[in-house]
Amino acid sequence: MNKDFEFGIKKQLITKEELHKKVKELGEKITEDFKNENEPLIIVGLLKGSIVFMADLIREIKLPLEIDFIEASSYGEGTQSSREVKILKDLRSTINGKNVLVVEDIIDSGFTLKKVLQILGSRNPKKISLCTLLDKPERREVEVNVQYVGFEIPNEFVVGYGLDFNENYRNLEYVGIAEPSVFE
Ligand code: PRP
Ligand code: MN
Ligand code: MG
Repeated sequence: MNKDFEFGIKKQLITKEELHKKVKELGEKITEDFKNENEPLIIVGLLKGSIVFMADLIREIKLPLEIDFIEASSYGEGTQSSREVKILKDLRSTINGKNVLVVEDIIDSGFTLKKVLQILGSRNPKKISLCTLLDKPERREVEVNVQYVGFEIPNEFVVGYGLDFNENYRNLEYVGIAEPSVFE
């Protein structure tokens, strides 16, 4: 087993400091946008990629809130379109009449979020908003309406700060770009 947890990282795309600054900004914006709402705010993280971002973000939202998680099936490495996304783990909370903020690490094709928004939307929340740390617009195949975006990034394979390659690298404090040799 390779003990170097940063093995194969070519460079840092977004540093720890840049992440911190952006997360603070997003938290301030969300606080501002929801401060006059009377309904409970439920922050819904998509497992597993969102957990690091979500853990930091909720501490920058200065409002009462609850957290919950949902897990959608990953469709592996295939690049075929019209991929089917299934729910592996559902929310524990009911969201009827509440404000829901879905938190994601990255939007790529958009299939995962589209499905999750469809499912949650059918449960009559007061409002569903979406916050993603990273957005890769070049890869989008289905349209998703996002209210809060941390960074738009180029079409490179990024890992760290929750994002994985084969389940590795989620614990990096920065978002990095992996060397192509890692994928071979
Ligand atoms: C990744 C990422 C997003 C999704 C984005 O999750 O965390 O959830 O893919 O891709 P899309 O926009 O093309 O649907 P993954 O399925 O790898 O699961 P993970 O979060 O557990 O790593
Ligand atoms: Mn994910
Ligand atoms: Mg993944």
